[in-house]
Amino acid sequence: MTDRVGKQMKNMRLDKYLADMKVGTRSEVKSLIRKGRIAVNGETEKDPGRKIGEEDAVLFDGNLLTYETYEYLMLNKPAGVISATEDPRQETVIDLLGEGHRKDLFPVGRLDIDTVGLLLITNDGELSHRLLSPKRHVDKTYYARLDGIVTEEDVCAFQAGLEVDEELTAQPAELRILSISEPEHTSEAEVTIREGKFHQIKRMFSAVGKEVVYLKRIRMGSLILDPDLPEGEYRPLKEAELEVLLEETNMGR
Ligand code: URA
Repeated sequence: MTDRVGKQMKNMRLDKYLADMKVGTRSEVKSLIRKGRIAVNGETEKDPGRKIGEEDAVLFDGNLLTYETYEYLMLNKPAGVISATEDPRQETVIDLLGEGHRKDLFPVGRLDIDTVGLLLITNDGELSHRLLSPKRHVDKTYYARLDGIVTEEDVCAFQAGLEVDEELTAQPAELRILSISEPEHTSEAEVTIREGKFHQIKRMFSAVGKEVVYLKRIRMGSLILDPDLPEGEYRPLKEAELEVLLEETNMGR
């Protein structure tokens, strides 16, 4: 088990500890403490300010709690929400999360409002930084539906590193043609890129005369979008998924 899962805690007030653990809001947990439902090392604890360290066993109604500093969620982002933590006008990916999550979660990188698919939500700034750092070249794979016929020349152009516009020359990217419909003049393709510039996939296809009409991220590094996760839903990362992600960013043990 990686040390980013489980206890990572210095001395902390009992009420904050319980609120961080999603036992309830700060005032709800104070009430639970007053009612004697919280015990520390076997003794009922009625002081919300009691300091808790890693060595302490905290029990809620007799059940042992394990402190988690970091939370990692896989979201299948739906269209129509923005990749931000808060916004006065538009719904954000964080608004999609139910109760009982840490308050400091944020999305790792951005997908356009109309892009769907894999988005990692966490409060682990170091992992986020490493996944997004241009130096690390973490692969991102997208499934795209296109207006236009993708050709072998496009595959070669993507491979060679496309001059997209005056601002962007894309690094070599892998383009795989999945299907083509001549009568409908449409294509399906998968693209893997190692950078993440603004509207990158849409701009790359536009540079070869095709329009992206549907875009879904299906992979980021080792993390693969769970095919059983419906759009708009999320789940915690499995421990094996997290282990591999941490290893590939050199954060594993
Ligand atoms: N490229 C795009 O054009 N849009 C996205 O949301 C992600 C990659």
